[in-house]
Amino acid sequence: METAYFNGKLLPKDEIKISPDDRGFLFADGVYEVVRWYEGSFYDMNSHCIRLKRSLRELRINWADADLFPSVANDLIKYNKLEDQPAMVYLQVTRGAARRSHSFPSPEVPPTAYACAWGFVPDSRSKETGIKVMLKEDIRWSRCDIKSVALLPNTLSFQEASENGLKECIFVRNGLITEGSHSNIFFVIDGTLFTHPESDHVLSGITRKNVLRIAQESGIKIREEALQENRIRFIQEAFITNTSAEVIPVTELGGNTLGEGVRGPVTRLISDKFDAETRVLKG
Ligand code: PDD
Repeated sequence: METAYFNGKLLPKDEIKISPDDRGFLFADGVYEVVRWYEGSFYDMNSHCIRLKRSLRELRINWADADLFPSVANDLIKYNKLEDQPAMVYLQVTRGAARRSHSFPSPEVPPTAYACAWGFVPDSRSKETGIKVMLKEDIRWSRCDIKSVALLPNTLSFQEASENGLKECIFVRNGLITEGSHSNIFFVIDGTLFTHPESDHVLSGITRKNVLRIAQESGIKIREEALQENRIRFIQEAFITNTSAEVIPVTELGGNTLGEGVRGPVTRLISDKFDAETRVLKG
């Protein structure tokens, strides 16, 4: 039986009961984090904790146990016997349960915290061959910097991509490429690495942050600057990043083949260095 975390306790997952009045259920009034386990350690858990606390602060959810997330995540790996395989831990914290009302519950109610873990097989083929992705108007709200569970525009867009045989949907807002439905995106033009700056229109990805550090350490020129959609023809390489998939080359964007249509040298260098860092985490 799978063990999950619920409001301070580790429990068999099927014993967990969440109120139908939970504001996560009624309003998507909550935040989440996803961390990856590398057979020995989590990758950059500290940055995930900092982002979790920021998301909670932005939504004014007071979860007193935020500092316990690393130990909860470790317990979930241990109790589910996932130590020796690649695994993910998912945490969600909502404002709690109260009769449906647009205003926050008064008096305040305890937040609902739930976390679970699962093992998975990484998609090593896509890391080599790359993926084709869709391009579409960014239909999300203006606070994409908050890791909120309100992901309907993301899931609808990703589903549309999947149904068209594509592996991600990349958003365009006011003519500028922002990010993917569940990833950040980078471009290489004439040796310079471009990615959208941190702003309300993108999530500050933990993988994004570490890729920028790796690029800087490698002497690659970086411009945190949004790319205009009408400059796609100048792109030589592109890749997306996220916690589960790491660094994945993009060979086709909105029907346009990028560069030679294969993983390029800058993408390879960054991907190899990222892999070297995660290998060290393995116990
Ligand atoms: N998503 N942008 C969006 C919209 C995301 O949902 C994600 C991650 C990222 C990359 O962030 P990070 O490198 O910290 O994983 C960027 C996770 C994986 C998810 O929703 O499952």
